[in-house]
Amino acid sequence: VTTTSISVLGSTGSIGTQTLEVVEAEPDRFEIVALGANSSVKELAAQAVRVRPQVVAIADADRAPELRELLPKGIEIEAGPTALASLATDADVVVNGVVGFAGLPVTMATLQAGRRLALANKESLIAAGPVVAQARRTPGAELVPVDSEHCAVHMCLRAGEGTRRLARIVLTASGGPFRGRSAHDLSTVSVEDALAHPTWSMGPKITVDSSTLMNKGLEVIEAHELFGADYDDIDVVVHPQSIVHSMAEFTDGATIAQLSMPDMRLPIAYALAYPDRIGTPFGRMDWTTPTELNFEPPDRATFRCLDLAYQAGRSGGTAPAWLSAANEVAVDAFLEGRIGWSAIAQVVDAALQRWSGAAAATLDDVLEADRGGRAAAAAVLANDEVNR
Ligand SMILES: NC(=O)c1ccc[n+]([C@@H]2O[C@H](COP(=O)([O-])OP(=O)(O)OC[C@H]3O[C@@H](n4cnc5c(N)ncnc54)[C@H](OP(=O)(O)O)[C@@H]3O)[C@@H](O)[C@H]2O)c1
Repeated sequence: VTTTSISVLGSTGSIGTQTLEVVEAEPDRFEIVALGANSSVKELAAQAVRVRPQVVAIADADRAPELRELLPKGIEIEAGPTALASLATDADVVVNGVVGFAGLPVTMATLQAGRRLALANKESLIAAGPVVAQARRTPGAELVPVDSEHCAVHMCLRAGEGTRRLARIVLTASGGPFRGRSAHDLSTVSVEDALAHPTWSMGPKITVDSSTLMNKGLEVIEAHELFGADYDDIDVVVHPQSIVHSMAEFTDGATIAQLSMPDMRLPIAYALAYPDRIGTPFGRMDWTTPTELNFEPPDRATFRCLDLAYQAGRSGGTAPAWLSAANEVAVDAFLEGRIGWSAIAQVVDAALQRWSGAAAATLDDVLEADRGGRAAAAAVLANDEVNR
């Protein structure tokens, strides 16, 4: 096996740190050549001491001198808003583990450099679908999803001979910490409650998105972009055990599912090693004890964000960018204690009603829609249009 060089961008986050664990499990196969994050100087430096990359990028340029002090000699530094994207050409595979719309430059730079993008940062694909699709046509460019559901679908499609006879994609959702609760009951939940995910340990933004089902809604749009499925052919089913990571149903009614323990190191490793597989399992199914796998429909009336995302996806154009931007503003407001959990869906809904209706033909269209979605959500908050 030849060594694959890897840039880990968003290295200090949940996806980033787990990527380091995958690489350390198979040191002959993988080598990290670059790390990057926003401002977590101490964590970045500690990672650099551990993996000895050639270069470390920090988006917050003000923190660069501090980082210089802590880094071992001989490791270069790139600093500033374009620093992470500038490392996209340095490796065979770029892991995009940045959170939110801020991950877009890494997605674009990697694909435009004709490299493999191991994509965890779903927001960039959702916001800029048509623009990313164009970049994916660059010779050598390849996108392998790290999001566990899409990684599962990727495997199911390989097993089922691709999308030719695909009838439906079924995304599974754990249901998050509030599964089974009523809207009334959820009006008083705390940030701490929302951050207590039953099956996955992830960064705060995606954990809140999981509690509202916005994460699943964003994943519906992601599946549409990745696999070209119509929105009518993408379904969501709640599966609390998080063992079946998603399914592909074919025209004869046969369904292929991917099962494994809920551990992000598997989809990360899949995206790094594809089309091969690594030799290290991060947890295996134990079939010697009785195991139940349950499936139930999502409660769309209580978890309104799911249908808001379908609505934005079906509207097309820059509606997904607008939705995702408004959601980032609403989630920040919730995490900072400015609004309650129930107001997240209200903010996104009201912001989406102000969508400009613009097409997403160019990167500028997408950047404009991101600004518009944020401004709309900020206006909704400022006008007190929601029940806090
Ligand atoms: N965690 C999971 O299990 C999981 C599963 C599926 C998909 N995803 C997706 O993967 C992405 C990352 O999620 P996460 O849970 O790993 O997030 P996280 O733990 O919050 O980590 C985010 C990372 O992005 C960096 N970052 C934040 N803002 C940035 C900016 N403006 N410029 C450059 N870097 C920036 C952070 O650096 P600092 O530490 O310096 O702030 C950190 O390294 C998200 O899109 C999420 O939806 C995650």
